[in-house]
Amino acid sequence: MTTQIPVLTIDGPGGAGKGTVSRLVAVKLNWHYLESGAIYRALAVAAKRDSLDPGHTDRLVQTALSMNLVFQCDASNYTVSLDGDDVTETIRQESCGNMASRIAAIPEVRQALLDKQRLFKQLPGLVAEGRDMGTVIFPEASHKVFLTASAEERAKRRYLQLKQSDNNVSLDRLREEIETRDNRDMNRAVAPLKPAVDAVLIDSTALTVDEVISQCLDLIK
Ligand code: C5P
Repeated sequence: MTTQIPVLTIDGPGGAGKGTVSRLVAVKLNWHYLESGAIYRALAVAAKRDSLDPGHTDRLVQTALSMNLVFQCDASNYTVSLDGDDVTETIRQESCGNMASRIAAIPEVRQALLDKQRLFKQLPGLVAEGRDMGTVIFPEASHKVFLTASAEERAKRRYLQLKQSDNNVSLDRLREEIETRDNRDMNRAVAPLKPAVDAVLIDSTALTVDEVISQCLDLIK
C-alpha cells in the first residue's frame, strides 16, 4: 500500500502574502515547506554570478540542474544558501525577482527544475507555494489555495517590506513592476499563473495574516 503524503499548495501573484502564510502554516502543521519562487530567484542570482542572461538557455539549464540549494526553515528563521553562499537577502531584491520572472518563462528551465521541487514532497506533509504548485508540480495535491490581493495592496506590502533596507524604494515604481511581472507570469506559454480548477480562492486584500492562516488550516482539518 502506498502512503499518501498530504500536500497543501498555495499559488498566487507576488505580494499576496503566500510566503508569510505558507511558512507559518508549515510550522504549525510541522510539515515541510517549499518556496518555489526562491528556487527561481536563486537561479537568477547564479545567472548573474555566471554572467548569463535569459538567452543562454543551455547554460541556464545546466546551472538549474547543478546548483546546490539548501533551505533551512523553522519558526524563527529561514535561510537560503546557493552553492555554499548565503543568499537569503540577495534573492529578495526586486531586480532579482524580475530576472527570476524572465528566466521562469523559459520552458527548458522549468523542466530542469521539476525534480528539485518534487523532492520536497515527504512525510508528514508539504506546504508548497508559488505559481504552478497546484496546476503543474503537485496536481494531485490534497488541498489547494489560490491567494490573491489587489495590485495596490500588494505594492503597499512590498513597499513596507523593502523600505526597511532600502530608502530609495518607490511605491509607484513597485506597483508598475508588480503589474509587469503579473502580466508576464499570467501570459507565458508554460505553466502560467492561474488557479487550479480545484483550488479554493482566498482574497487577502482585507484579511490579516492570522485570518488567512486559519482559513488554510480549516481546509486541512
Ligand atoms: O514568488 P516570487 O515572487 O518570489 O517568484 C519570483 C518569480 O519566479 C515569479 O515572478 C515567477 O515568475 C517565478 N516563479 C514561477 N513559478 C513558481 C514560483 C515562482 O514561475 N512556482
